[in-house]
Amino acid sequence: MTLRGTTVLVTGGTGGIGKETARGLARLGARVVLVGRDPGRAEAAAAELRRDSGNDGIAVHTADLTRRRDLHRLAEEVLERHDRLDVLVNNVGVARERRELTEDGVETTFAANVIAPYLLTRLLLPALTSTGAGRIVNITGGVPKGRIDLDNLQGERDFVGLSHYNQTKLALMAMSYTFAERLEGKGATLNVAYPGHAYTSMNRGLTTGAYPAAARPIVPLLRAAMPVLYGRRAVVKASRSSIHLAADPRVGGVNRTYFTTRSRPAPWPDAVLDRRNRDAVWALCERLAG
Ligand SMILES: NC(=O)c1ccc[n+]([C@@H]2O[C@H](COP(=O)([O-])OP(=O)(O)OC[C@H]3O[C@@H](n4cnc5c(N)ncnc54)[C@H](OP(=O)(O)O)[C@@H]3O)[C@@H](O)[C@H]2O)c1
Repeated sequence: MTLRGTTVLVTGGTGGIGKETARGLARLGARVVLVGRDPGRAEAAAAELRRDSGNDGIAVHTADLTRRRDLHRLAEEVLERHDRLDVLVNNVGVARERRELTEDGVETTFAANVIAPYLLTRLLLPALTSTGAGRIVNITGGVPKGRIDLDNLQGERDFVGLSHYNQTKLALMAMSYTFAERLEGKGATLNVAYPGHAYTSMNRGLTTGAYPAAARPIVPLLRAAMPVLYGRRAVVKASRSSIHLAADPRVGGVNRTYFTTRSRPAPWPDAVLDRRNRDAVWALCERLAG
C-alpha cells in the first residue's frame, strides 16, 4: 500500500489516535497535514513524525475547531498552501464535563464532534472532489446505540458529559450518512470509523462527574485500568481503522459505510437509519455552521 503523491489532512494529528493515524499515513509516503491548536505541540509532533517515518512532507496548521472563524481560516490556508487534497480525516473529538458554549453560541462538544467535521468537509470539498477519488473519514465513539434526543442535541437538559458525548457521536453518524448520500457520484466518498478504546488526553482528564450516575461507583476502577488496558499499544491499534479507510485501495469506491473495530463494516444504528433524525440533525448543522 502506498500513498505517494497524495496529500492527507488529519485533524487532531498532534496527539492521541490522530497522531498515530498521521504517523501511519506518513509511513505510507503521503504528504501529511496535521491540525492542532497549539503551534509548539504541532511543530513537535511534525518533527517526531518526520524523524520516525523518514518522510519530510509533514506540514502543520493551527486552529481551534470549535470556532467557526478558525474553520474558515484553516480551510482557506489549506487550499492556498497545498496543491491537492486527497483525504480528510475528521479525527478531533472532545468530551466536556460541563456544558459550555463556544464563541458562536454552540455547545462545545457538539461544535467539535458534529459542526467541525460538517463545516470543514464542506469548505474543503472542492479540493477533495477535484481528484475524482477523494476520501473523507469521520470518527465515531463507542456507544452508537440508543435514540437521538432531537430536543436535546446540544445538551440543553440534564447534561452528563459522557452521555452527551455519545449523543454527539450518534448525531455525527446521522450527519455523515446524509453527507455521504449527497456525495454519491460527485468524486469523493465519506465513511465512518470506530477506533476502539484508547487511553488518551480525551479520557485522561475526565472526573467522576462526567460519567452517568450508574457508572460512577466503578470510575476509580476504570481510571486505574485504562492506562494498563488501553495504553500506547491500544492507541496505535485505534489508528488502524482510519488508516485503512484513508489508504486501502479495496475501500476506494466504498461510500456511506460504518466500519467498527478491525475495520469491519457494521450496520448503521437504528437511530441513524431513522430519516427524521437525519433530517433534523442535517438542518441543525446547516443552521449552526452559518
Ligand atoms: N480514546 C478513546 O478511547 C476513543 C474511543 C472511541 C472514539 N474515540 C474518538 O477518536 C478520536 C480521537 O480521540 P483521541 O482519544 O485521540 O482524542 P485526544 O487524545 O483528546 O486528541 C487530541 C488531539 O485532538 C486535538 N484537539 C482537541 N481539541 C481540539 C480543538 N478544539 N481544535 C483542534 N484540535 C483539537 C489535540 O490538539 P492539541 O495539540 O491542540 O491539543 C490533539 O491533536 C475522537 O473523535 C474520539 O471521539 C476515542
